[in-house]
Amino acid sequence: MTFKKNILCIGGGYVGGSTMAMIAHKCPHYKVTVVDINPTRIAEWNSNNLPIYEPGLDSIVISTRGKNLFFTTDIERGIKEAEIIFVSVNTPVKTFGAGAGMAADLQYWEKTARQILECSESSKIIVEKSTFPVRTAFAMERILSLNENNIHFDVLSNPEFLAEGTAIKDLEYPDRVLIGSRETPSGVKARNELIEIYANWVPKDRIITSNIWSSELSKLVANAFLAQRISSINSFTAFCEKSEADINEVARAIGMDSRLGDKFLNPSIGWGGSCFKKDIFNLVYLCRHYGLDEVANYWEAVVNINEYQKERFVRTMLSAMFNTIAGKKICLFGFAFKANTGDTRESPAIFIATKLIDERAELVITDPKALNNARIDLNGINGAVSYSEDPYEAADGCDAIAVVTEWEVYKDLDFKKIFQSMVKPAFIFDGRNILNHKQLFDIGFNVFPIGKPALTHF
Ligand code: NAD
Ligand code: UGA
Repeated sequence: MTFKKNILCIGGGYVGGSTMAMIAHKCPHYKVTVVDINPTRIAEWNSNNLPIYEPGLDSIVISTRGKNLFFTTDIERGIKEAEIIFVSVNTPVKTFGAGAGMAADLQYWEKTARQILECSESSKIIVEKSTFPVRTAFAMERILSLNENNIHFDVLSNPEFLAEGTAIKDLEYPDRVLIGSRETPSGVKARNELIEIYANWVPKDRIITSNIWSSELSKLVANAFLAQRISSINSFTAFCEKSEADINEVARAIGMDSRLGDKFLNPSIGWGGSCFKKDIFNLVYLCRHYGLDEVANYWEAVVNINEYQKERFVRTMLSAMFNTIAGKKICLFGFAFKANTGDTRESPAIFIATKLIDERAELVITDPKALNNARIDLNGINGAVSYSEDPYEAADGCDAIAVVTEWEVYKDLDFKKIFQSMVKPAFIFDGRNILNHKQLFDIGFNVFPIGKPALTHF
């Protein structure tokens, strides 16, 4: 079969794998190839056991793989053959040198840019799909302009806004697709080629364009605003616990104001995930670089409140359980950073588990999808940790349960049965406010929600 265009994606992770599967699914006339330096990842994409869990992903990969969707480690050939290259490599926080702990580690995309330069034999459109610091496209253009073969590269910014757990829905019905480009004739032509791809399934009025720097910045700002909303509501959970106000009632009341909206107001043990923290730190670093210290401090506080919230949750557990949890058995319901994903990157569960172990508690961890990652995250930790897929088995013989991830399955458990199997007094710390607290109290539990008065039998 001959294809209209060859699309390549460098980096087959959560974003590269899912977005390319969607493009292949919606555009059978394009050949889509995903390459990665990690051969295990590529082997998994080619197997029945995909490297990521994402509802709806399996079926679209299975229906397109081998037809117009291909996964390979042959990066060189992929680059040679492609007319459009998406760059979707990871952009973690730098762990060394200048900007360590704050700035983005740019070695991955720079290697990619140099490899594109080295292997290209024809002009190409390069699409920034990863979340990059503002003005990365400029650096990318500078590197790519070093070629001596009269090849022209147009660099576009097309940040991804999908959230894990709903990635397929987000990709199929995006709120918007953002494309940043230069306003030169070739920049506009490249932009139109990318619009043509998305227009296969995204309504035209949802495909918006901007200059490249606005596009790069919009991605960081979107994540900063989302995280800020959660930090804001979480900051008031502390207030509610002091004043006997109820955070869910407050969230409902403010969320009905159409200017505020009701999304991202769920109180929690703190937000996690691979991007919020790194993207805010990236923004903070850029602000300081431009001498905007007040702006940097404002956004840094969003991260500080999140750290405070995680610490507060552990402190509440400790003080509720008579200021000692040494030797007590505590069950964590959930380890993923949110429901419907097996991803545990920056999950608050890691912080909570580590702190509880520091206090010499014994941990039992249960999660429907994240136990493998939990084992990796806690590998080598100095303490007693066990794992069980079955929440009933996990809670058996425990002094306390802490709900860490808001999996639906936890709402419908037989808590009477669980209560009977636990050590008394039995505690539940609902870090997501997903359970029926009154019912649990009536069963006999001492219940500690987030941002609401505790229900205790003492
Ligand atoms: P990931 O770690 O899951 O995937 C990145 C992949 O790139 C890895 O498989 C890695 O092996 C590969 N890679 C690194 N260097 C490479 C190279 N030189 N050549 C080929 N492959 C290479 O990361 P992710 O979660 O997919 O995120 C990728 C980017 O997308 C990040 O910038 C992230 O901020 C952004 N983003 C992520 C999400 C999300 O929900 N995960 C959502 C929106 C945006
Ligand atoms: C987030 C954004 O929602 C995406 O738009 C963005 O593309 C992505 O980051 C990224 O750049 O990586 P994601 O991290 O997958 O997506 O998940 P979210 O649904 O945003 O949740 C993030 C964290 O906030 C989770 O730990 C979640 O449990 C927590 N959260 C979310 C709350 O505590 N309360 C809420 O009301 C919502």
